[in-house]
Amino acid sequence: MTDTKRILLIISGGIAAYKSLTLIRRLRERNIAVRCVLSVAAAKFVTPLTVGALSGDKVYTDLFSLTDEQEMGHIRLSREADLVVVAPASADLLAKAANGLADDLASTILLATDKPVLIAPSMNTEMWEHPATQRNLAILAGDGVHRVGPDEGDLACGEIGAGRVAEPDSILATIEAMLANTSSDLASVRALVTSGPTQEPIDPVRYIGNRSSGKQGYAIAQALAALGAEVTLITGPTKEPDPLRARVIRIQTAEEMLAACLKALPVDVAVCAAAVSDWRASVPANQKIKRSGKSQHLELIENPDILGRLSAAQPNRPTLVVGFAAETESVIENATKKRLTKGCDWIIANDVSQKSGVFGSTHNKVHVIDEIGVEDWPVASKAVIAERLAARIASKIACRSIVP
Ligand code: C5P
Repeated sequence: MTDTKRILLIISGGIAAYKSLTLIRRLRERNIAVRCVLSVAAAKFVTPLTVGALSGDKVYTDLFSLTDEQEMGHIRLSREADLVVVAPASADLLAKAANGLADDLASTILLATDKPVLIAPSMNTEMWEHPATQRNLAILAGDGVHRVGPDEGDLACGEIGAGRVAEPDSILATIEAMLANTSSDLASVRALVTSGPTQEPIDPVRYIGNRSSGKQGYAIAQALAALGAEVTLITGPTKEPDPLRARVIRIQTAEEMLAACLKALPVDVAVCAAAVSDWRASVPANQKIKRSGKSQHLELIENPDILGRLSAAQPNRPTLVVGFAAETESVIENATKKRLTKGCDWIIANDVSQKSGVFGSTHNKVHVIDEIGVEDWPVASKAVIAERLAARIASKIACRSIVP
């Protein structure tokens, strides 16, 4: 795809699938690249050949196609676009997306994507009004999914009511508004993000680590890059795929993370989302430590406080330094203290007690603490929290650049 903006269009089953052909043409007329995914049911209403001819790109239909996976894994497919659009979106696909099911290509993409998602529902009025569908829509809205339509009018089933897919021009207008929104609020802003756990060696095979998945830090790097920032992501070992358009530097220990952070300065914004181990073995053994029948003593020394060092970095302190406080009790109280002791500007506090289920989860519940007070954010996916944080950073940076 060589066009500047890129859409991944998922066409799900239903008579309204034919309207997506017009949508593809309208998008192409505006030089917006469109890559299409057809659900199995959609392929009964419009053919991959027609869709491919109009989009000028390969059409994807099968989750288990070996050739497709070799050319372009479904994770990459879900991320190599600025926006994912589902039009028409069937009741069935919405139900899968709301519940995180991933048993075909379309639903897998919706679960795997880190990009904004727009749905254009299309279904019979009874199905639209059914409490199950309305429940699913509420879940999707909470996850940050955007919606256009449906309209009211004559339906293909002969009934009249709500459920007609929005007209292609109306979907197009929403797409253009969303693309404009996610463009370049942070153009020419340099951002540093730390993420993941650190691993502190005890001997060549053992280490001190923690349960951080890196998901929140990666999502933040992705969201800042989506707003046009030049992002350096410094990360401990994770299973996350690289965020698009970010420079990724991999480290293992806290000391390596600190060195990489200082080397990345100067930056405008630093977001420290990494779960840095507070301690390391004072002298890691050169060889694997053997059982000896006696108890072992491991001397630990404190690791450098990277967030603290960045907050105090002179003369290169980032304009805005954001830290995280993963707490298991008195979350806001502890995080408020942490903002002051670390010297950062904002602290994002989250509850990582076992009952919160946050570690490794796709969702998070955070409180944003700044010099003014505490903002409670609703439970949302880590991607949505990242987008919201990136937008907050963008408006703060914009304010600072007009206030001398
Ligand atoms: O003290 P605690 O680990 O909860 O502090 C959390 C914040 O401090 C996070 O932003 C984390 O990335 C950062 N941190 C750090 N270096 C450390 C310990 C924590 O940057 N050694």
